Amino acid sequence: MSEIKILYTREQIAQRVAEMGAQINADFSGQTIIFVGILKGACIFLSDLARSVQLDATFDFISCSSYGKGARSIGEVKLIKDLDQSVQDKNVILVEDILDTGLTLSYLKKLISAHQPRAMKIAALLDKPSRRVQPVKADYTGFEIPDHFVIGYGMDYAERYRNLPSIGILPPELF
Ligand code: IMP
Ligand code: MG
Repeated sequence: MSEIKILYTREQIAQRVAEMGAQINADFSGQTIIFVGILKGACIFLSDLARSVQLDATFDFISCSSYGKGARSIGEVKLIKDLDQSVQDKNVILVEDILDTGLTLSYLKKLISAHQPRAMKIAALLDKPSRRVQPVKADYTGFEIPDHFVIGYGMDYAERYRNLPSIGILPPELF
């Protein structure tokens, strides 16, 4: 049985997330922001990112499904939990664990834009550009990676491995 191969250690992740936070701090200096986390994968990233930002911030969460319980998208996005609060005229940072086909984020961008936020930015810890189906770009990206199925730091395979502190590659025999 092969092991999970570590792609980014918790130290590497912490370093990069702090840099992303510093960028958001600078871009929104003197303003208030709402971090909108996409459940469940983004919750750990949001927790760390938000704590590296010193602005006046609130949290909200949104949930949608596109993956079912497997590893690959079924190509259709469904809203499971909407925002709790109005984002009209607010600065929204949409926080996502990984930008893959782009189906989820293009759907959510449209949904949130309809509520007329003052600004809407996307923060994605990981980006797999080679998998893109919809032309979505993140404003803040942690790491660009090739087409591996990754787990840990909030990301799952069939709901497991979210609590690994590092990010690893799931070996094919564990699929
Ligand atoms: P997209 O709609 O295809 O961009 O997919 C986005 C969602 O798919 C992310 O929020 C993740 O939950 C999930 N996802 C995509 N790639 C991976 C991966 O390599 N590991 C774990 N989850 C993934
Ligand atoms: Mg997700």
